[in-house]
Amino acid sequence: MANTQTRKADHLRICLEEDVQFNQLNTGFNYYRFTHCCLPELNLNEVDLTTTFLGKKLGAPLLISSMTGGTQQAKIINTRLAEVAQNYRLAMGVGSQRIAVENPDVAHTFAVRSLAPDAVLFANLGAVQLNYTYGIEQCLQAVDILEADALILHLNPLQECIQPHGDTNFKGLLDKIDRLCQQLEIPVIVKEVGNGISAAMAKKLIEAGVAAIDVAGAGGTSWAKVESERAENNLQRRLGKTFADWGIPTAECIVSIRQQYPHIPLIASGGLRDGLEVAKAIALGADLAGMAFPFLQAASESPQALDELVRLSLAEVETVLFCTGNANLSELRQSRMLKKIT
Ligand SMILES: Cc1cc2nc3c(=O)[nH]c(=O)nc-3n(C[C@H](O)[C@H](O)[C@H](O)COP(=O)(O)O)c2cc1C
Repeated sequence: MANTQTRKADHLRICLEEDVQFNQLNTGFNYYRFTHCCLPELNLNEVDLTTTFLGKKLGAPLLISSMTGGTQQAKIINTRLAEVAQNYRLAMGVGSQRIAVENPDVAHTFAVRSLAPDAVLFANLGAVQLNYTYGIEQCLQAVDILEADALILHLNPLQECIQPHGDTNFKGLLDKIDRLCQQLEIPVIVKEVGNGISAAMAKKLIEAGVAAIDVAGAGGTSWAKVESERAENNLQRRLGKTFADWGIPTAECIVSIRQQYPHIPLIASGGLRDGLEVAKAIALGADLAGMAFPFLQAASESPQALDELVRLSLAEVETVLFCTGNANLSELRQSRMLKKIT
């Protein structure tokens, strides 16, 4: 238990203090450009960012991606994130709740529902835990702690390979995810942690019954780099460095999954760093766009810095809508104003 708390504290410290972003900026969004509209025929004040996700209303298509919990510092960060999620009616995930399932004394570091009664909240567990004694009971516990709207299961095979004492038995997981989707009454979302989900894997997950997919693709926070920083020996350190840039770029995941599945609720995340990229992700077919590291940086600085980040991100998305002549997100998706630069 103390070990898990140390790991969580290490993750926050390393993400904030070390350079653990991908070496190459390869989310793929840089290959796209919006066509400017010089006469929008719109009033900027009337541009509409509201949307719905899994039947829940949101003020904007923004997700504060799953990050933390389990320590005092994590509680402060989750509290600040929840307050901003409530103020702007955003979606928010918490970090893996395994630590709280195993020690209910730290459940309060995740329990932000009272601060964010109108936000859409996602519980979080590693899917691989289903191979290490976890089942419906532990999933329900995670959901109850947060009074969550959905459960996110994260897939992190590369991280587990590099992490000291990682859980590396991923055999038979798809069947267990399938069973869980049938048993749980709330939606199950599957996400990666920064290495992406291909269209072929999305097909298997959708057939297993997942309600939504968060691609969490390559180009942002590199968990191979994070775990390389935590390595207990030279081999682990070098292994992490070799795979620092491994994964499918976020934009590529979105385009390929959306092409085959026009209606699956889809989240773009992994390396999104501003509202312009959020807008590109939406135009490529995502329903929501998630950011982790930028929210972590701002939340650890101050509630004011966090509020400013959200206001700026929303202003950036609004500016894209206005300067492409689209009044809302559905219009943006259909507008074909985003062109691939060849
Ligand atoms: C400090 C930190 C902790 C994270 N912990 C989790 C976690 O517990 N569960 C999870 O699904 N993803 C976790 N992630 C991954 C993020 O949700 C996200 O998929 C990934 O960081 C890529 O997004 P980014 O490039 O915007 O950081 C974490 C990210 C950060 C920065």
